[in-house]
Amino acid sequence: MAHEGDWAARDRRYVWHPFTQMTEWFADETIVIASGKGNYLFDTRGRRYFDGVSSLWVNIHGHRHPRITKAIKEQLDRIAHSTFLGLSNVPATELAERLVAVAPKGLRRVFYSDNGSTAVEVAMKMAFQYHRQNGPAGMKRTEFVTLGDAYHGDTIGSVSLGGIDLFHRIYRPLLFKVHRVPSPWKRKEPIPKRRNPASVDVLAPLAKIFGSRGDRIAALVMEPLVQGAAGILVHPRGFLREAARICRGAGALLILDEVATGFGRTGPMFACEQEGVRPDLMAVAKGLTGGYLPVAVTLTTEKVFKGFLGPPGGDRTFFHGHSYTANPLGCAAAIANLDIFRDEPVLERVGVLISRFRGGLARFRDIPAVADVRQCGLMVGIDLMEDPAGGKAFDPLLRIGHKVILAARKRGVIIRPLGDVIVLMPPLSTTDAELDMLLQATYESVEEATRAGGIQPRRPQRARSSVRSW
Ligand SMILES: Cc1ncc(COP(=O)(O)O)c(C=O)c1O
Repeated sequence: MAHEGDWAARDRRYVWHPFTQMTEWFADETIVIASGKGNYLFDTRGRRYFDGVSSLWVNIHGHRHPRITKAIKEQLDRIAHSTFLGLSNVPATELAERLVAVAPKGLRRVFYSDNGSTAVEVAMKMAFQYHRQNGPAGMKRTEFVTLGDAYHGDTIGSVSLGGIDLFHRIYRPLLFKVHRVPSPWKRKEPIPKRRNPASVDVLAPLAKIFGSRGDRIAALVMEPLVQGAAGILVHPRGFLREAARICRGAGALLILDEVATGFGRTGPMFACEQEGVRPDLMAVAKGLTGGYLPVAVTLTTEKVFKGFLGPPGGDRTFFHGHSYTANPLGCAAAIANLDIFRDEPVLERVGVLISRFRGGLARFRDIPAVADVRQCGLMVGIDLMEDPAGGKAFDPLLRIGHKVILAARKRGVIIRPLGDVIVLMPPLSTTDAELDMLLQATYESVEEATRAGGIQPRRPQRARSSVRSW
């Protein structure tokens, strides 16, 4: 057992952290979390922090929720894990049934994996294989379409979809090519119904690629409504609806990545409900277990599933699986998570919280360095620039986003930036008072960090846009 205060030193000696330049890690104080309760984290030195990004967008009902904790403990008294290859297990069977009941209509089959990246990877492999098994024309469907700045995870298939240069460029020689159309996030106006898609600015590139290569495309892969890791890039209303129409019109499958947006994060249970879109395949992870254990699923239709049925031992088998696929502890946590959604007015409460968030964000536009404030439900991005009016970003070496989160820690709040976009994504269980505190701490931290070191951002000349939100 380490001595109190030893933990940080031992972390620095032995651990390699994800998405982290470790020289920068060594330059900062290392915070080691020892416990959690409700919407708070506690470190080994006894300090308390509000969990302002839901522990990287996973936590839904807070930490140590009695119902989820109890479900995991009870499952532990039965069995922790047994393989899902050649066997089934009780919680995974129940969870599949429960997920089909809450998923967008038409999604009837549940394939388990462990994380968001693999859930997307599975969806891509399924789409590709489905077409190959669906007559000679399907053999041609080997290509994928995705959006600019896409992020779908860190396995090689999902990185191939990725369009965030900083994360993905080093791996380019390893990746397969995809068709990438610009993200539509800069358009503010909704996309009207019954228009020729090619005549709408943000749909034209999509219409073009499906028009010219539609018979070669296996699937369109995208996040619904908002691209999270790209910097909370909020799409115009109607984009998903029309993109789905273009994709289906060409006989391609629609894969929606609800890894970040699922489980009430944008308001309803799944974001695609807001546009009345039902995907052919849907990847779900993060909030699935309430943020307690790593379980992910890829849901699909009976039509896709049936395309994999064939003679025993045949090629139609879906050759994919992991050692911990459908882990019973994780599935028990996920069932408890769904129980809470069923028994408590969680989604009603989210609606109230979203409006309060919108109101509280308005004043951020008064900070000169705030270039844009984007909101999609409980997913918020505050974009910081040295000169918003002139479109001049801060020098990345200044690490302004990072400075903001260090300033927030002093105020008892844990948040994590995406470059110079400050992301706020509190748990669904956040109270009004906690949300106000998160906003106040973030406001002060942005002011402090953007004014530090002599940086005095100029006030833009033109009027600022208001908070862009769904
Ligand atoms: C939209 C989206 N897809 C996939 C992933 C990857 O999920 P995981 O980190 O569980 O592999 C993420 C992670 O942030 C995500 O936001």
